[in-house]
This record gives sequence, C-alpha cells and structure tokens, in this order.
Amino acid sequence: MAPADSSWWQTAVVYQVYIRSFADGNGDGVGDVAGLRSRLPYLAQLGVDAIWINPWYPSPMADAGYDVADYREIEPAYGTLAEAQALIAEAHELGIRVLLDIVPNHTSDQHAWFQAAAADEPGARERYHFRSGRGPDGSLPPNNWQSVFGGPAWTQLADGQWYLHLFAPGQPDLNWDNPEVRTEFEDILAFWFDRGVDGFRIDVAHGMVKGDGLPDTADPDDAAQSLVQSREGHPAWDQDGVHEIYRGWRTVAQRYEPERIFIAEAWVPSNERLARYLRSDELHTAFQFDFLRAPWRAEVLRTVVDDAISAAATVGAPPTWVLSNHDVTRTVTRFSRSQPGHLIETDWERGRWADEDPDHVIGRRRARAAALVQLALPGTAYVYQGEELALEEVEDLPDEVRQDPTWVQSGFTDVGRDGCRIPLPWRATDIPYGFTADSAAVTWLPQPGHWAEHSVEAQDGDAESTLNLYRRALGLRAQLWRDAGDLKWLSTPSGVVAFERGAAQCWVNTGDSEVPLPESASVMLASAPGVLSALPPDTAVWLRSR
Ligand code: NOJ
Repeated sequence: MAPADSSWWQTAVVYQVYIRSFADGNGDGVGDVAGLRSRLPYLAQLGVDAIWINPWYPSPMADAGYDVADYREIEPAYGTLAEAQALIAEAHELGIRVLLDIVPNHTSDQHAWFQAAAADEPGARERYHFRSGRGPDGSLPPNNWQSVFGGPAWTQLADGQWYLHLFAPGQPDLNWDNPEVRTEFEDILAFWFDRGVDGFRIDVAHGMVKGDGLPDTADPDDAAQSLVQSREGHPAWDQDGVHEIYRGWRTVAQRYEPERIFIAEAWVPSNERLARYLRSDELHTAFQFDFLRAPWRAEVLRTVVDDAISAAATVGAPPTWVLSNHDVTRTVTRFSRSQPGHLIETDWERGRWADEDPDHVIGRRRARAAALVQLALPGTAYVYQGEELALEEVEDLPDEVRQDPTWVQSGFTDVGRDGCRIPLPWRATDIPYGFTADSAAVTWLPQPGHWAEHSVEAQDGDAESTLNLYRRALGLRAQLWRDAGDLKWLSTPSGVVAFERGAAQCWVNTGDSEVPLPESASVMLASAPGVLSALPPDTAVWLRSR
C-alpha cells in the first residue's frame, strides 16, 4: 500500500466483509474480528485493495447491526476495540485499506440517546422525530409513511407519543435538523479516522433529511416499496438538504492525510440525482445500483454502463460497480432464472419470480462472466463476500431460522435477505465447513449441505474455480485496466457487448449462440475454459491487441 497515494479509491477493488458470516474466531457460530484477522492473508492473496466491514458496533441486532447502540465501540460478540485496532494495523501491513459502515439515519432504540428520549428527558426527543398521533385520540400514526421492512413507519410509546422509524421499530430515525446530531456524527467520523480507518460506506445516505413538516406522501403505496426501488418525490428520501451534511463530512475527511473517503449507499431515482452526492465538495463515490439490478441482457448492460459513466463524469467522479451485496439476491441466483428486459426489483426477485426453478449452472456461468465485465470497467468495483466462490442464494431456509426483520414486518410475506448472508464455507469438510473455530458450533444461519464443493479449500486447488478466476482477474486488472482510461464501445452482433480501453478489450455474450472473436487480439482471460477464437453463450473474455 502506498499511504501517500491519495487517489487509491478511484480504481480500487473493495471486498465487502459481512462480519457475522465471514469467519468465526471464538467458536460461537457468529463471525467476528478474530475470524476476520485470521483470514486477512486470504484477502491479500485474492488481491483486493480494501475491505468494507458491515456495522461492527454494539447492537441488539434488530437489523443485523444496522441498529447501533454505541458508535465508538465494538459489538462484544465480535470482539473488542483493541482487536479492531489490531485488525486495522494488520490489514494496512498487508496493503489492504479499511472502510467501515456508518449508520447516520437511525440509531438503535437501545442507544443512550433513545433511552433518554423514551424516558422523556429534557431535550432528548428533539434528537429524533417524535409527534402526536392523528385522529381524535391520537391513535393513528402522524403521517402515512410505511417502513421499508413493512408496516407503518411509526411506533407509539406508552405515553402516547409516536416516533418515526423508516426501518424496524428498533431503528428510530434521527432528527438531522438538530445541530447536536450533526456535531455528534462528525465526531464519530473523527474517532475512527484517528484510529486509522480509511473511509466509510454511508448507510441510507439519501435518507437523513426529511421533507419539512413530515408531510404525507402522495402515493402511500410507493412508500411500501423495497429499499431497492426508487421513490421519486417521497418526502423521506433524497431531500436536497442532505447535501449540506456531506459538505461538513468532507471537511472532516480532508483533515487527514491521505484524505479519508466516503461511499454512498443511495437508492435514488436517477443517475443525475446520484451524481449530486458526488460533487467535488461532497462524497467521493456512490454505488451504481442499476448495474446490480441489470438482467443478463447485452442491451440493458450497455445502457446501464453508459448512463453510469456519463452521469459520474458530469461531476468528475469514478463510477462504482457492484454486482450484489448483503441486501439483494446473490448474483448466481439472479442470473439463474429467465431474464426480464428491464432492471430487476428485489421484491419481484423474492416473490413471483422465485416460482421458477433456478438453474445454478447457468447462473454460475453468467456470474463469472459478469465479474469479468465488472472488473474491466473504469472506476471502482465492490465484491461481496462469497461472490468469489460463486455462492448461490440459499432460498430454502426454514422459516423458524429466519432473522431478517423483513420477514416479521411484512406479515411473513417477504422472506427477506437471510439467503445472501449465510456463513462462508472455508474448508471442504462437513458443516460448518471451517467457518467456526469449534466444529460443533451451530452457525447463526444454517449452511446448505452441499457447500463443501464451493468452499475455499475445494476451489483453491482447482485451476478453473471461480476463486482462481477472481485471483487471476484481480492480478490482470492492474495491468490491463486500472490505468486504461475511457471506454469505447465496439460493434458486435446482437446479444453481445464489447468495449475497448487502452490496448485491452472485454467481450461478453449474453445471447444463445457462439460469436467469433477478433483475430487481431489474443485471449488474456476467459470466464469459461477453452475460449480461443469464438465466444460461447454466457461467457466473457479479456483480450489484448497482438
Ligand atoms: C441499508 C443496509 O444495507 C441494510 O442492510 C439495512 O437494513 C438498512 N440500510 C437500514 O439500516
């Protein structure tokens, strides 16, 4: 790692560590800091530039850690602050930068501030959104907003007041009009930057500022849509006032050398709206979620890539590519069913669409090809843990083990996100596949019985495995693509997209028939074995001019 290199984030490959499910060092069946430390060499060998760790703060786990009780400590089940600092130092020694997850839209209901608010201590309710209810006796919620997880976005306390929570009742929304809230979060950022953290992923970065007076939304149905769908005009999301917060955060980041960085999780209706978060005095990068929602169709892929690049270019920001994360169906499964002609919505993925049986063989072929497209594009790329193993979504979890609040809050109609959060298989043994230090431990979500073949150990020794494809791709990316500049589309037969950057080309075939590859270039890497002069369906290839 070159610490002085302040532009590292513009081309970085960042690995997302979902800490509960990455590796368990103390044998309790839940991933932790010790487990992550023990696997840092794995990540260094994979070749990533940085890791982003999902929330690791003390939490009652109403939403898997996105309900934070103390922003300056480590969840006891995950370890201690001293271990966290050791992890940051060890990662840096291996050349891996460390990004944390900041959750500024809401705290846990167990956070000291909310406890004070619940006890109605003077001024404490002003840090949240408390209101009287509607109706003659105040027994109706103050407005018609729905929680992202289902049900009303308001909960009533015993004294009759209601508080706002856009997510679970255990995640009360903070009032960002209160200057105390702003000061506190700038201080939390500095707390972690002082401990060597290189940046933050910002949770629900489009959510903190609410429309004046918390007005009803015009279309209450659109409030109930999943996080992934855009909500144009909803007063809870993407309000212009949020940008002022980020101008303040940027000045905090600029106090450090090299400058610390931010990546926004902002589900907004258009790339133009997203680019507003990336103006030069605001955030550095933002996930380009249309790429994650794109079906396996050449024409949609090309449009999504074009739109993202041109919108980011208007503000001079690098586009940021992501194929999946801990909130959406895993890539293999997304690509293992028939593909629509439009962007995929997660509600749809988890609902009606799941009636179709998945073909994981095709899903894996496509996921491997998609990875080569992602890693050849200009800008930065995020890899969600288990993508490098081509793990599929676990869609047959028994209802009684489900943990995602979506399941309960949706009235048991939406199974939620547990299926993409299953503990990783490390060893080619029986369950728990080396995930935990104690082989008799019960993992916090059960693993499927057939994952030995997808384990790190099984894939390590197989030259054709997805793990080794990722390792080769990340090595070659530095040579072929990292500094290759702008993208130029090549003309291709229908069902195929291809682009050139510098001396390298990336071709991907989403169609049904094989297509010839240009004779003037040689194959550097292919997502399937045996690709030389023609590109089979569901395959991608990296070429270099001869
Ligand atoms: C987005 C996070 O990625 C998701 O897991 C969480 O449930 C919500 N924000 C609420 O914090």
